[in-house]
Amino acid sequence: SSSKILIKGGTVVNSHHQEVADVYVEDGLIIAVQPNIKVGDDVIVLDATGKYVMPGGIDPHTHLDMEFMGTQTIDDFFSGQAAALAGGTTMHIDFVIPVDGSLTAGLKLYKQKAQKSCMDYGFHMAITKWDEVVSKEMDLMVKEEGINSFKFFMLYKGSFMINDELLIEGFKKCKSLGALPMVHAENGDAVFEGQKRMIELGITGPEGHALSRPPLLEGEATARAIRLARFVNTPLYVVHVMSIDAMEEVAKARKSGQRVIGEPVVSGLILNDSVLWDPDFSIASKHVPLVICFIFVPSNYQYVMSPPIRAAGHAKALQGALSSGVLQLVGTDHCTFSSTQKAFGIDDFRKIPNGVNGLEERMHLVWDTMVESGQISASDYVRITSTECAKIFNIYPRKGAILPGSDADIIILNPNASFTISAKLHQYRTDTNVYEGVTGKGKVEVTIAGGKIVWKNGELKAFPGSGKYVEMPPFSYVFDGIEKADSNYLSSLQAPVKRSRSST
Ligand code: URP
Ligand code: ZN
Ligand code: ZN
Ligand code: ZN
Repeated sequence: SSSKILIKGGTVVNSHHQEVADVYVEDGLIIAVQPNIKVGDDVIVLDATGKYVMPGGIDPHTHLDMEFMGTQTIDDFFSGQAAALAGGTTMHIDFVIPVDGSLTAGLKLYKQKAQKSCMDYGFHMAITKWDEVVSKEMDLMVKEEGINSFKFFMLYKGSFMINDELLIEGFKKCKSLGALPMVHAENGDAVFEGQKRMIELGITGPEGHALSRPPLLEGEATARAIRLARFVNTPLYVVHVMSIDAMEEVAKARKSGQRVIGEPVVSGLILNDSVLWDPDFSIASKHVPLVICFIFVPSNYQYVMSPPIRAAGHAKALQGALSSGVLQLVGTDHCTFSSTQKAFGIDDFRKIPNGVNGLEERMHLVWDTMVESGQISASDYVRITSTECAKIFNIYPRKGAILPGSDADIIILNPNASFTISAKLHQYRTDTNVYEGVTGKGKVEVTIAGGKIVWKNGELKAFPGSGKYVEMPPFSYVFDGIEKADSNYLSSLQAPVKRSRSST
C-alpha cells in the first residue's frame, strides 16, 4: 500500500551528519535509516542515487488566509500549503491574528481556516493589545493550545502596534510561561512620520514605501527590542531581518552571549530595491481612470512588503550572516495578494497591502543561493531550512530530522536538475511572482509529507484535511537555566543555552 516507502541509495542529510543510506517509511513515520534495507513488493521504491534525501522544509513565518490592511491574503491554508509541498516545504508556522484583541477568538478562527490543511502546521500568536484578559489568554495558549511563541508588532500604527511599556509586559509574560517573544522591529512612529513626508513630497508609488522607512528605523527598533529583552532577561526572536543595520544588532547581542535569534526571509536574501523603481511607474502614477489601473498594475507594486526590500548590498550581507551563523534560519513571510489587491494603493503606497510570496520557492532559492554557490554545506542547508526551526520551537526530533521515529516529512533534491520560477508555473492563487523568470540549480523532485508522496514528477497530490496541527510545548528547561542565571545577572550573559534536546 502507499503507506510503505523505501528511498534507496540517496545521500541522507541531517544537520549534524550526512551518509549514503536507504530510508524506510511506514505509516507516516521514518522506521529505519541504514544501508541496503530489504523490503517486500508491497513497498513503493524510490531510487535516490546521486540525489539528496533531506528533512522537508519548515517555514517559520507565513501568513495564510489573513485579514490585513483592509483585505484578505489570496492564498489560504490549502493553496498556500499545496504550493509549499510542490517546493519541498512540509510544515509551516502561521501567525494567528487576534480578533478585536482576543487571542481565544483569533485562535478559534484560525483553527477553522486551517481545517483544509494538506500539510502539518503550527501557530505563533500575535499580540496586538495588552490587558489582563490578554495576559490570561496567553496562559491558556501555552498550557492548553500548543503555542509557545508570541509576536509583537513595533509598528502598523493604529492597528497592531504595541508601545514599549506593553512590549516589556509581554516579554515578562512570555518569560514566565517559557514562551519565546518575537518582534517585528521597525519604529512605527518614525515610519508614520516618514510616510507623511513622502506624501508631502508627492512620492506616492512603491519606492515611497521603501524611502519612508530606511534601514535606520529597522536598526533602531531591533536594538531597542534586543535591549528590552536583555533587561527582562528573556530570549528574543527577531522576525524578517531585512537590513545590515538590524543584522548587526543581532550579531552584537549574540556575541555578548544574549539569546537572540535572527530570521532572514527569502526576499531579503535575494532581491534588491531596484525592483521598486519600475519603468512603467510614471505612466500609472498619473490619475488614469481606475479601470485602466486594474489592467496595467505596474509590476513594482508586487514587491511592497515590510520591512521593505533594501538597496543592493544588504542581501549579500544577510547571506554572509546566515553562512557564519549570525542569523540562524530562513523564513519567507509569505503573504500574498493579487495584482488587483496591490492596486488598492495605486495612488498612495500606504494602501498597498504589504507582503510577497516565498512559501513555494524557499527551498529552491536557498539551495541555489547558499549551497550551489558554495557558501554553505548540505548539512547547513538542512539546519537553516528545517532543523533549527524545529529546535527553536521545541518539536525536534519529531520534525527537522531524518531519524528513526521522526515524522516522514522528506524531500529528494536533485542537485543536477534546474528549476524555473514563474506565475505561469506556481501553485499559488496569485497572478504574480516576485521571482518571475528566476532559474537555478537544485530541484525538489519528490516531496513526502506525513508518509505520503505528495509531489513527484511535477504532479501534486494534496488532500484538504490531511495536514495535522503540531503542538509546540514551552521551553521549561531553557527557562530553568535562565531562572538560575537570574540570581547573577552577569552569568546570564554567557554563551547562549543550547536549545537542542537529545533525541531520546
Ligand atoms: O509585509 C509584510 N511583512 N506582511 C506581513 C505582515 C508582517 O508584518 O509580517
Ligand atoms: Zn548516521
Ligand atoms: Zn512582520
Ligand atoms: Zn510576517
